[in-house]
Amino acid sequence: MLGCGSYLPAQILTNADLARKVDTSDEWIVQRTGIRERHVAAPGETTSDMATLAARAALAHARVDAQSIDLIVLATSTPDNTFPASAVTVQAALGITHGAAFDVQAVCSGFVYALATADSLLKSGSFSRALVIGAETFSRILDWTDRGTCVLFGDGAGAVVLDRQEQADQGEERGILTVRLRSDGRHKSKLYVDGGPSSTGTVGHLRMEGKEVFRYAVAMITDVVEDAFEATGYTAADVDWFIPHQANKRIIDGSAHKLGIPPGKIVVTVDRHGNTSAASIPLALNDAVADRRIKRGDLLLLEAMGGGFTWGAALVRW
Ligand code: ACO
Repeated sequence: MLGCGSYLPAQILTNADLARKVDTSDEWIVQRTGIRERHVAAPGETTSDMATLAARAALAHARVDAQSIDLIVLATSTPDNTFPASAVTVQAALGITHGAAFDVQAVCSGFVYALATADSLLKSGSFSRALVIGAETFSRILDWTDRGTCVLFGDGAGAVVLDRQEQADQGEERGILTVRLRSDGRHKSKLYVDGGPSSTGTVGHLRMEGKEVFRYAVAMITDVVEDAFEATGYTAADVDWFIPHQANKRIIDGSAHKLGIPPGKIVVTVDRHGNTSAASIPLALNDAVADRRIKRGDLLLLEAMGGGFTWGAALVRW
């Protein structure tokens, strides 16, 4: 993993702003979710716009040229258009005309799914350097009259650059050590968007049974993280930084507690970003890399759970 970058739209929507739109309060939102504010895309600002800016930041951080990228995997549930994939818009904006670019849709687990996809394609030898991006404009699919959902989400984008490199015979393994993915479609009606090209012909709005999502989240997250530990032989004690999907502070704390990860090792951005779905992990990663909490060689544990349900975890040597 050569570098990372992120982008947040300029406009900030605070809990106090929301309390002027729907019947809610700063106190309720902070207590139930830990969220204080979130960023919202400007009119006309698209998922691919934000993804491109995050990608450029990641390329600069990795000190590599866009032309060296031959694979772009973009995780999003809020693409610019039904098709083509927003990834090809990013590819064109970066001036890349070779290789492949496509979107991955696994809602809040999208970044972990995209990471697994790019990792496998690099390891297969078909590609040599990848941009893995998570980018979302959930503000466009929220029902702004539904206080149960509109207070939870925000917009943004994050990206990492992955490079195919041979593992040295000696020394510690680097990069993506394992990615474990799961899904169970029996839960699809607990968190979904009530529209789509093949069902209603409309974009639709996000609908959620919040209590039900909450009920499953911690167990599913900790289960798949245990898989990642089993696959690598690492334990919670080896983890330097826990970078969870930023859905809700209570889910994050509950998962960390069950895994035995102390609060000081958790990267938390949900208070400032809200839930940015597939963008939340690379946004949090970039935050902790930028302020130098994360150092080269650190062992990172990433995890996410979301609509589907989908869930997954990755162990990464930064
Ligand atoms: N402000 C004030 N009151 C509210 C709000 C609000 N924004 N939203 C709901 N309420 C009210 C409800 O109407 C209800 O009132 P009632 O008792 O008079 O009927 C009361 O608060 C309790 O509602 P619940 O839904 O039971 O509240 P709960 O304590 O479960 O918290 C929440 C709701 C925060 C959504 C919680 O269920 C949760 O965090 N679920 C996880 C959902 C999540 O994180 N989804 C993100 C996507 S999935 C993922 O990324 C993992």
